[in-house]
Order: sequence, then structure tokens, then C-alpha cells
Amino acid sequence: MNNAPSEARDGATITLRVQRGVPQQAHAVQTYTVPAEAAASLLDGLRWVRTHVDDTLAFRYACINANACKECMMRLDGKTVYACTARLEPGHDYAVAPLPNKPLVRDLMTAIAPSKERLFGGEEDDER
Ligand code: FES
Repeated sequence: MNNAPSEARDGATITLRVQRGVPQQAHAVQTYTVPAEAAASLLDGLRWVRTHVDDTLAFRYACINANACKECMMRLDGKTVYACTARLEPGHDYAVAPLPNKPLVRDLMTAIAPSKERLFGGEEDDER
């Protein structure tokens, strides 16, 4: 049994390298270190960042870990995931990005509803 403090500390955090930005501008990557116990899922980790570090980080979710709303889709290490069901491992480093095939709103938030289903900004708005 090895309880060396440095090993415990190394495994006690998760690193999230999050792509941030708005449409029509170059994006930046911001790195956040999250306590592993606060980030069992990617959504948990992002919510921890927004609560404790940076309340400007934008991402979308509605049901929190029920996997019912389907609004938390984003990219984790290049794969499309639901943030609420994507499990994170202590001591690991992850790249987080918005969906590449949807219009970017800001940071990790994309316009996921078809334009005809949006209240404003859809094609029907152009016909007024
Ligand atoms: S938060 Fe609702 S499906 Fe992920």
C-alpha cells in the first residue's frame, strides 16, 4: 500500500482544456483544474468550473445527469458525447470543444434545435 501524498494529489484533479469563443472570431483554449471528486461526469466538472472558477463559461444542459434532455452534447477528446454521461478519470487531461457541425453560440454552446423550432432567428423570422 502506497499512500504517498504526491500520488494522492496527482490523482485528485482532472484537467479540462476547454475551447472558448464566439462565432466569427478565433477561439482560445482555457485550462481548468477540477477536483476529481467534483467531476464524476464532464457536466459535473463544467458546473464546478462555472460555480467556483469562471461563471462566464457557456454550455447547455437541462436535466443534469438524467440523460433525458439531450442538450449537453459536446466533444470530449474528439468524440461527441453527452456531457452528463461522459465519465472522467482522476489524473487525466481532457480536451473539450463544442459540436463542430452545429452553429456556435458561445464556448461549448451550440444551436442544437433546428432553425424552424427556434422562437427567434429561424427562417420564419426572415419572412416577416
Ligand atoms: S443534461 Fe440532459 S441529457 Fe445531459
